[in-house]
Amino acid sequence: MEPHQRIIITGASSGIGRALALAYAARKARMVLVARREGRLVEVADRVMARGGDAVVLAADVAERSTAQKVLELAQERFGGVDVAIMNAGRRGSMPAAAFDASIAAEVMAVNYLSVCYMLEALLPEMRRAGRGTLVAIGSLAACRGMPESGAYSASKGALATLMESLRTELRNSDLHAIAVAPGFVRTEMTAPNQFRMPLLMEADEAARRIIRAIDRRRPIYRFPLGTSLAVRLLQVIPVALYDRLVAWGYMRLRRDHASERPHE
Ligand SMILES: NC(=O)c1ccc[n+]([C@@H]2O[C@H](COP(=O)([O-])OP(=O)(O)OC[C@H]3O[C@@H](n4cnc5c(N)ncnc54)[C@H](OP(=O)(O)O)[C@@H]3O)[C@@H](O)[C@H]2O)c1
Repeated sequence: MEPHQRIIITGASSGIGRALALAYAARKARMVLVARREGRLVEVADRVMARGGDAVVLAADVAERSTAQKVLELAQERFGGVDVAIMNAGRRGSMPAAAFDASIAAEVMAVNYLSVCYMLEALLPEMRRAGRGTLVAIGSLAACRGMPESGAYSASKGALATLMESLRTELRNSDLHAIAVAPGFVRTEMTAPNQFRMPLLMEADEAARRIIRAIDRRRPIYRFPLGTSLAVRLLQVIPVALYDRLVAWGYMRLRRDHASERPHE
């Protein structure tokens, strides 16, 4: 564990990103916190300071390419560089076949995938010059296979996993590390609207604790919790016909439960 690390966290205004910032604060880390809601970021930064860390905020949209350069410049100005960048900002986006809207796919891809490309574009030259650095992308176990209505989200996280793997293989034998994290269900604003029982739902603080441990250990890929990760691996190897039947059964139940919760007109 290295104290006083210089860390970038995108999506730090809520959920996992916020919990990561608060956990790193206890180690006196110096952080650039990025998200769009400035008030929320300032609240997180105040808490970071109260815990002995240091934080500067940048209210910006990570889907804009210019944001990445601003983040890097802020880290250089305030802390003299970057040791760890956690690219965590993300959004959901339902895209059912009955109302297929490609603009949702474009928006989800821009936040969940392209924003990471922009950050890598800004950070890699700097880290290569420094000869060290850790790049962490928060993906999802949802990348494992397609599920009804969630093609845009799963595809964006699948693209992210492949991107990080490609980078990792290229950076092998250097002091630059590419880490892909894939959480299962975590209780945050993102999962709050979910109308189904989320197996092994975890609190954001616990997720942050585990992610930080994985980063410290430089685990190339970290999927958690174990139970969900194993279930997902199983889903990846079962025959297509069985997978489709299982998913169709779950989807039908979900729609039925959802319909019965709606008030009758
Ligand atoms: N919760 C889960 O079960 C779960 C599971 C697997 C993976 N994940 C992943 O974990 C990451 C964090 O999600 P979370 O669960 O903590 O959800 P969350 O509480 O909704 O946090 C999402 C964060 O991303 C930021 N963000 C969204 N769009 C942005 C944009 N265009 N520009 C800048 N910041 C943006 C949000 O801040 P602003 O709204 O202030 O911009 C917020 O800070 C995401 O990548 C998500 O896909 C979550």
